[in-house]
Amino acid sequence: MVSARPAARFTLVDHFGRSATETDFRGRNLLVYFGFTHCRVVCPRSLARLSQVLDRLGEKADRIAALYITVDPARDTPDVMRRYLEAYPAFTGLTGSAEEIDAAKRAFRVFAERRADPLDPDGYAVPHSAIAYLMDREGAYLDHFTDALDEEALASRIEQALAQQEPISDD
Ligand code: NI
Repeated sequence: MVSARPAARFTLVDHFGRSATETDFRGRNLLVYFGFTHCRVVCPRSLARLSQVLDRLGEKADRIAALYITVDPARDTPDVMRRYLEAYPAFTGLTGSAEEIDAAKRAFRVFAERRADPLDPDGYAVPHSAIAYLMDREGAYLDHFTDALDEEALASRIEQALAQQEPISDD
């Protein structure tokens, strides 16, 4: 089967401030989740669940890069994301300019719009779709997962998707 090799869906910076483009991760599967660090409920729940799923996958997770792309680049600087992700160390945080984040959102068809939120210290939140995307080692879409899946179902869906890939011969 001939794999599609899509162009990079994002060109951002990681939580260490280093340039990070989708093509930098070629050769690894990507698990991509969009959110923002001020998110009170959805992100903590999703990131905890996805982290547990990666744990459950054991060494099968070694070739998966888990990415958390902010939809709130105004507040989510690399430093903010690095500190936040200390609680979810499987994840690499990605941020960028508003334009770069908009391009990444469009590429994954992620919905997220800033909205007034009186409970937020800065007066706004960025409600977002809670979907994790699984990409193959060359950047082609494999599967996506909503919040409705429990950890066991999610781990098994990821295992199935990974099992369908060509084996890697160089390890
Ligand atoms: Ni969130």
